[in-house]
Amino acid sequence: MRARSYRWLHSKGVAKILVTGGAGYIGSHTRYFLEKSGHTTVVLDSLERGDARAVPAGMLRQVDLRDAAKVRQVLQEEKFDAVIHFAAYMSVGESTERPELYFINNVSGSLNLFDAMLKTGVKSLVFSSTAAAYGIPTKVPITEDLPFAPINPYGESKVMVEKILGWLDRFREFRSVRLRYFNACGAEPASGLGERHDPETHLIPLVLRAVQTGNPVKVFGDDYPTPDGTCIRDYIHVSDLAEAHIVAVEHLLKGGVSDVFNVGTGSGCSVKEVLSAVEQVTGKMVPRTIGPRREGDPPSLVADSTKLQKTLGWKPKRAELHGIVRDAWEFAQKG
Ligand code: UFG
Repeated sequence: MRARSYRWLHSKGVAKILVTGGAGYIGSHTRYFLEKSGHTTVVLDSLERGDARAVPAGMLRQVDLRDAAKVRQVLQEEKFDAVIHFAAYMSVGESTERPELYFINNVSGSLNLFDAMLKTGVKSLVFSSTAAAYGIPTKVPITEDLPFAPINPYGESKVMVEKILGWLDRFREFRSVRLRYFNACGAEPASGLGERHDPETHLIPLVLRAVQTGNPVKVFGDDYPTPDGTCIRDYIHVSDLAEAHIVAVEHLLKGGVSDVFNVGTGSGCSVKEVLSAVEQVTGKMVPRTIGPRREGDPPSLVADSTKLQKTLGWKPKRAELHGIVRDAWEFAQKG
């Protein structure tokens, strides 16, 4: 097995990588950066929620992870060095209405993938986890040693997969890096890719839409125990996030051990600060209303990403909020 993992080093330092969910927002950016780094990629995506336009022609295998036989077939036909696994449902609100969907898709879909990987001798995986694994954290900035405490089925589904990966590492020599993302946002201008969810629930695209349509965005609560009363989040540029996946997968390809890392900038911005940044970047007022708090929103979520920086040498390069908003605005204007 080890010889297989090292195959990429003996060639030109590049590998063949399967990207599940590669038609989604973060998956498509990561696929783009993998190719830029010289790696070869294949995207596996059901297109149920992904966007075919985000995948270059010929790179897509349209397969649903819930279809175990088809997943296995793809892994048998192509010889992958590693897998980066994004494919999952990701709406917190929906997960509280239909928890079963989240466990079937996110957990059993992942199990089908891991089973196919084990059967075809692929034992290196980067997993897309989330800050939602921490629930309402007991301390901020959040370090990786805080306990799992999800407060919604989406977060729980990611925790379950993280735990499965722990057992696979222990008993099947299946190595994984679990990346816990904070708030992914922005877009890589040169790629033509960007954030496009349907329905959209994320703050920055909704605020930009409010600017474009004149329909107010609703601020979910201004009575939090934060300096301006609105929630604080750690907004991480999607390109920085994509680069975290590259260093993580290369760590595994070099024979590195399993690990878990937070991916954030280490500094938080409030909802009101995001609104002002949008006004400065677009030069337009953001129409807004102040609504009640949204169920399950912790007041403040900020990552301590020191471990990722020290262990794998990753650094956020685009942490400044105005730059993030500028990139998101450029994409939003393309329609
Ligand atoms: N918000 C508003 N109005 C909106 C939308 C969002 O005020 O219309 C606020 C939210 O209350 C929150 C902040 O903007 O304070 C960011 O909200 P998002 O919905 O953009 O992102 P979340 O922080 O809720 O969610 C993100 C990821 C999830 C992940 C979670 C971890 O999108 O996948 O972080 O807590 F689970």
